[in-house]
Amino acid sequence: MQSVESVEALRQQIKQWRSEQLSIAFVPTMGNLHQGHLSLVNRAQELADKVVVSVFVNPLQFDDKSDLSAYPRTLITDLEQLESVACDLVFTPTADVIYPNGMEEQSIITVPGMDDKLCGQARPGHFDGVATVVAKLFNMVQADVAVFGEKDYQQLLLIKKMVSDLNIPINIIGGTTHREESGLAMSSRNQYLTKQQRGDAAGLYQSLLVVKEQLEQGEEDFSALEQVAFENLQALGFVPDYVDIRRADNLEQAKIGDKSLRILAAARLGNARLIDNIACNLA
Ligand code: PAF
Repeated sequence: MQSVESVEALRQQIKQWRSEQLSIAFVPTMGNLHQGHLSLVNRAQELADKVVVSVFVNPLQFDDKSDLSAYPRTLITDLEQLESVACDLVFTPTADVIYPNGMEEQSIITVPGMDDKLCGQARPGHFDGVATVVAKLFNMVQADVAVFGEKDYQQLLLIKKMVSDLNIPINIIGGTTHREESGLAMSSRNQYLTKQQRGDAAGLYQSLLVVKEQLEQGEEDFSALEQVAFENLQALGFVPDYVDIRRADNLEQAKIGDKSLRILAAARLGNARLIDNIACNLA
């Protein structure tokens, strides 16, 4: 596995592969890799001849600077894990490579309709930071396809919209959420949980499943379902931001008669802000 820090070295390898008519898949990450990330790499391997993974903790997407400094940086083990799944190339740029003129001088991408709801409301500027760095990484890597985890469902839809709005020639694929045995969605942020909280954290997923079951049984009072789930999370010790039933295609508020839904939640437990979501397809 090759590891490069500069855009020039990255492009040189990409150019070589292109000259051999090889297709390229891309998995952007912020490192601190777990099984969920590795499953995205496996998915990428099914989609293209070569797989590029980036590891970059993007300062532009952190609305809270203490969150940025606490974010776990584990490059050596990340590289070992990527090697173990036969990733072809790892791109590990520094902030100077991504933002050579500083973040204040950086042109910013905003994805209207996707950036200010749900997690965007609780984390102002976060999705501008995500869209901007992902657009830059797409331009650097120039892959055919990129894989993003469905755990960050709003992020996945935001990237799909950005690619469509800006005519970026890349195909965006969602990778299934990887869960621990308890049902807790795998996340780098789970390590902020104590042992006890890690057990309790599965309550987030369980709450989503309860909402889904009620919807499947024909319950149509969406706001009552959201409210009950919200209070249930509070009773379990979470501080919820939201539990929402949305349309799966654009994250607009769901209405009676909508069939393809997504149930999404974000809640704090101790020092961790956890997010999760599940699909709900009504007949
Ligand atoms: O999902 C993440 O890890 C990040 O938001 C991403 C897509 C790598 C952009 O920094």
